[in-house]
Amino acid sequence: MHTIIKFLYKNLLRPILFKFDPESIHRLFVEVGSVLGSFNITRKFTRRFFYYGDSMLEQKILGIEFKNPIGLGGGYDKNGETSSIMPDVGFGFMEIGSITNNPSKGNARPRIWRLPQSKALVVHYGLMNDGVKKIRTRIENKKFRIPLLINIAKTNDKTLTGDKGINDYVECFEQIKDLGDIIVINISCPNVSHETAHMDAKTLDKLLTKIDKEKAEKPILLKIASDLTPHDIDEMLAVTNKHKISGFIVANLAKSWERIPVIKDEIKPEMKGGISGKPAENLSNILIQEIYKKTRGKYIIIGSGGVFTAEDAYLKIKLGANLIEVITGMIYEGPQMVGDINRGIKKLLKRDGLKNIKQAVGTGVK
Ligand SMILES: Cc1cc2nc3c(=O)[nH]c(=O)nc-3n(C[C@H](O)[C@H](O)[C@H](O)COP(=O)(O)O)c2cc1C
Repeated sequence: MHTIIKFLYKNLLRPILFKFDPESIHRLFVEVGSVLGSFNITRKFTRRFFYYGDSMLEQKILGIEFKNPIGLGGGYDKNGETSSIMPDVGFGFMEIGSITNNPSKGNARPRIWRLPQSKALVVHYGLMNDGVKKIRTRIENKKFRIPLLINIAKTNDKTLTGDKGINDYVECFEQIKDLGDIIVINISCPNVSHETAHMDAKTLDKLLTKIDKEKAEKPILLKIASDLTPHDIDEMLAVTNKHKISGFIVANLAKSWERIPVIKDEIKPEMKGGISGKPAENLSNILIQEIYKKTRGKYIIIGSGGVFTAEDAYLKIKLGANLIEVITGMIYEGPQMVGDINRGIKKLLKRDGLKNIKQAVGTGVK
C-alpha cells in the first residue's frame, strides 16, 4: 500500500502541488491536517494508510516514551493546529512553533521557494506565528497522543535588543512552560534581519540564568545554528554545562549558502533566507558527530536536516542522534515517508544485529 501512495504522491499529486505558490500549499496542508485531525473517522482512515509501529523503534528518553524516533520538525506547524493528526501520519513526536511572545506577521512575501533539483527549500518566513497567548489557548486543553515539543523564539521585532530580547524570550517561556513535554529554545533563527543566526555565549548564559529561575518541570533543548565551528560548540557547551539544558536540536536552516551543495542554476536573485533539505544534511551530520564526540550521551541530540530516507535517519543516529526530525523530506517524498523511514530503520537495525535504536546511537563515531 505504501509504495502505491508514494507513487501517487510523487507522480500525480506533487506535480500539481508544485505548480502553486509554496506558502499557499504549506497553509493548505496545515488546514487539511487540522480538519483531518478533528474527526475520529478521518484520524482512523489516515492511520490505516500511513502509520507504522514496532517495538524495536520505541525508546524512553528524558523519562518520555517515544513510539518511534521520527518527529515533525519545528516550523511546519507554527501555531499548533495539527497535533491531532500527526500521530496518525506516523510521527513519534512533533514540534510546534517557533512561538514568540508577541504575534508576528513575519517577513514580506514571497518568503519560501522550492529548489527541486537540490531537494531543498529556501525559507524566509521570519518567525510568523499567532503569538504565545493565542497558541496557548489553542492547545491548553488538548490531549496529545505523542510527545509535544514547543519551540519558542524571540519576537521578530528589531527594537528587542540586549536585555529586552532576553526578557522577551523569558516572558514567552513563562507563558508556555507548563504545556507540552519538552521546551525547545530556538537560539538560531536565520531569518530575522536584525539578528545573527547564532546566539553568542555571553547572551546565552544570561538567557539560561533567567530560564533556570523559571524552574520549569520539563526538559529544555536548544535549537542551534548549522554552521557552528568547533570553537562555537566548546563555548556553547561551557555555558550549557552550567545550566539545566538536556540537549540540542541539530540543526536549524543552513545560512552559509556557499558551504552547501545547492544547484546554482536554481538560485534566483530574489531568494533569501536559510536552506533546508538535502544541501543542509552534511552540515547537520558534522555537528551531530562533533557534539556527540564531545559529550558522549550527556545530552540528548535530535538530528534535523535533509532526512529523506531510512538510511539518512540511521546515519544521523549512528553519528549520535537519539531522535530525528523531518520537514523538507516529507514535502518532497509525501507523508508516507514517515512510515517508510520507520520501516527501513527496523530493517537496518536487524541488519546490524541490534535490538533497538538505543544500541545504534553513536556507533558510527570513533
Ligand atoms: C517551511 C519551514 C519553516 C521553518 N520554520 C522554523 C521555525 O519557525 N523554527 C525553527 O526552529 N526551525 C524552523 N525551520 C527549520 C526546520 O525545523 C529544520 O531545522 C530544517 O528545515 C532542516 O530540516 P529538513 O531538511 O528536514 O527540513 C523551518 C523549516 C522549514 C522548511
